Amino acid sequence: MTNALGAAIRHEWDLDPDFLTLNHGSYGATPRVVLAEQDRWRRRMESQPTRFFFLELPGALREAAGRMAGFLGATAEDVAFVPNATTGCNAVLRSLHLQAGDEILHVSHVYNAVRNTILHLAEQAGATVVVAEIPFPRPDVATILTNIERAITKRTRIAVIDHITSPSGLVLPIADIIRLCRTAGVPILVDGAHGAGQVPLDLPALDPDWYVGTCHKWLSAPKGCGFLYARGDRRAELHPVTISHGYGQGFTAEFDWTGTTDPSAYLALPAAIAFFERLGGVALMARNKALVTEAAALLAAELRTEIGALPEMMGSMASVRLPLGIESTRSEAIRVRRALQAANVDSPVHPLAGGMWLRLSAYAYNEIADYERLAALLPGVLARLT
Ligand SMILES: Cc1ncc(COP(=O)(O)O)c(C=O)c1O
Repeated sequence: MTNALGAAIRHEWDLDPDFLTLNHGSYGATPRVVLAEQDRWRRRMESQPTRFFFLELPGALREAAGRMAGFLGATAEDVAFVPNATTGCNAVLRSLHLQAGDEILHVSHVYNAVRNTILHLAEQAGATVVVAEIPFPRPDVATILTNIERAITKRTRIAVIDHITSPSGLVLPIADIIRLCRTAGVPILVDGAHGAGQVPLDLPALDPDWYVGTCHKWLSAPKGCGFLYARGDRRAELHPVTISHGYGQGFTAEFDWTGTTDPSAYLALPAAIAFFERLGGVALMARNKALVTEAAALLAAELRTEIGALPEMMGSMASVRLPLGIESTRSEAIRVRRALQAANVDSPVHPLAGGMWLRLSAYAYNEIADYERLAALLPGVLARLT
């Protein structure tokens, strides 16, 4: 157990020292010790491929799934691996076989790739997409619940709800939302791409129909490591996007083999969880929340703008409005993001509520000095944009 965080442990990662990395939320960053474990698995695989795939992989994969399940308060049979959250959400949504007249509900801050999946499947089926508005900035729990409740009708086939919203970093009141959907008789898919490692999770207690998550973000697993949790009564009709040898043999058999691929990211996950817990686990999540809260306050004060979330809806990310008089569009957001990258700053930018918002992340290797550096160089970057 090490208590040293911030710059004192940055040597655990290969992060570019010339870059201000304030964006663990997009792709995570995998520490050296986890990459070494992934490499060990790859060497094992290549030392005798058939022995590995035929004899060793099935057990090793289930063991890794069991470790992830334990982290989620669940058991190995509840959890399957998927390469990423997009694929997990696709598996659930494609398994529904939507009909004309069905309604699919999502929130206005939905992740764009999942929105596209919903649109595509709705178009194919003649189903309708219904959007529950999340007012921004600083929405309150009651308004979010009311807006979701009002968007539910007798035709709602599924509610797809982000646990932590991507563009705005809001930790939605997911336990209340799941309860609301359950009372209304609406199945709920939680897109928890940002959940594991940002907030404590007990999935059997939350009891969603499906929960999809990533491990390459806040658990710092190698890229291409996600999970799909399905409640017992939801497994029979659930199939992976790619049908393979396990078809008809049950949830884990179907998802454990979807064709030959490199499974080393999944197998290195227990090492990533061990690293995360060595850094503090629950205490690390609380420390990251405190750090990003302080950082957002610092930035908003320096820029004379505002923060996007109330404190109770923050995890390890926070949005701060940028003082930019430019159009609130995706193309302009990309222009701002490129300008930040050119200044060696990695922090995503999203157009929301008529403004431009910077999404900060706080992870173990960050410390308040990083955000002070950002505050010092932002005015110069922004001045060149208007
Ligand atoms: C809410 C949400 N869903 C899904 C994804 C997609 O994750 P992945 O790239 O692992 O598929 C993201 C990624 O940022 C996200 O924020």
